[in-house]
Amino acid sequence: MRTLIRNAQCVLPTGIHKTDVLVEDSKIVGVDAALGTRADEVIDATGLHLIPGVIDDQVHFRDPGLTHKEDLHTGSLACAKGGVTTFLEMPNTKPPAITQALLEEKLAIAASKSVVNYGFYIGATPKNVDVLKAAHRTPGIKIFIGSSTGDLLVDEQEALETIFAGSTLPVCAHCEDETTVKANTTRLNGGSTYAEHSQIRDHAAAYIATKRAIDLAKRHNHRFHVLHVSTGRELELLRDHGGLITAEVCPHHLFFNIDDYARLKSLVQMNPSIKTAEDNAQLWQGLLDGLIQVVATDHAPHTLEEKAQPYPKSPSGLPAVENSLALMLNQVNLGLCSLEQVVSWMCDAPARVWDIVDKGRIEVGYDADLVLVDMQREATIRNADQLTKSGWSPWDGVTLRGWPVRTFVMGRTAFADGRVNREHRGEEARYDHARGGFWAT
Ligand code: DOR
Repeated sequence: MRTLIRNAQCVLPTGIHKTDVLVEDSKIVGVDAALGTRADEVIDATGLHLIPGVIDDQVHFRDPGLTHKEDLHTGSLACAKGGVTTFLEMPNTKPPAITQALLEEKLAIAASKSVVNYGFYIGATPKNVDVLKAAHRTPGIKIFIGSSTGDLLVDEQEALETIFAGSTLPVCAHCEDETTVKANTTRLNGGSTYAEHSQIRDHAAAYIATKRAIDLAKRHNHRFHVLHVSTGRELELLRDHGGLITAEVCPHHLFFNIDDYARLKSLVQMNPSIKTAEDNAQLWQGLLDGLIQVVATDHAPHTLEEKAQPYPKSPSGLPAVENSLALMLNQVNLGLCSLEQVVSWMCDAPARVWDIVDKGRIEVGYDADLVLVDMQREATIRNADQLTKSGWSPWDGVTLRGWPVRTFVMGRTAFADGRVNREHRGEEARYDHARGGFWAT
């Protein structure tokens, strides 16, 4: 099957060029303005941009065990609609993915029902370093240095030292300091308002845990990716790391802050918590300055009924894969960043951080994970239109300009004309960890 995408403005590693892209089966086989027209399908993409598919390296799709919130099918439908062609999913499912067998169970579920490509982290526990050492078919190891949804937690120093010393796969971590969070919880009598979430999981909690994790990575010369940086102050930790550390920020930490609790209540209750408007601005600057390399969502759906419970019963997390690319394309249209930067943050950098083979770029030999975007299209996010099983978005009612209009996963159309091809199936991402990650490539 040969598909020719003609006349799009293509975001290539060398910049934006109007050229044609030829896809054969699952691969990009030509990037050239003179490819002829011999193809089974010719798509005239005049007026559209073609970008590599988004790789979201932090999602929670709840499968197995918590599938009333989301499952690997519904989460993947939301991905296809949002221009996300590959997701890497976190281990805090039920049971948690803390053995090779449990990891492979998730791979099997995804093979049977995910519309887009997939990968799964292996979860660290205080005692499973032997599993982590031998783990394969995974982008890396996830450590909850601070507790969040689920009961995965490693915060004893000795256990952390053992993991950093004894494993070789790249590590990422949820960084919020358990001791600080507990002390704040006691001081605030557990908290009773949603806004107090940001006082319990405060700036200090994020800073202390990120500092601790980066110290461990440096001492053990271990590759480490800081998930969801939430404070401007953490940026100072992301300098002078000798090519070991990468970091990411989520749309909710860029676009929401504590002033939003009044309007959105628990819908913006997340871990790490949202912080201040000043943090929003500093995090955006951190991206522009290259201190943060990746934008990912931490898509963490809960039902509206669960979210409506009073604090602190209300669970932390919000869904975002469906709208993350559009949120960033809107920033391009506002003149706040370039489309090439968005592609770097959401497509190329995550592939390099996790050593993903043949993804993240429009280049001959790469997988045909591609997204046509219409930079002029304006649309309003509506809860009723969301494909996530949770059925809501914290951006309900927000109008954005710049939207994905067609998504190709391994050469086949997974989303077009407003509809997801629910029968399509993605493939398991492959990793070449010998590549050495973001700074080596
Ligand atoms: O708010 C959050 N919810 N943060 C996390 O790190 C986990 C997530 C979840 O799984 O619900």
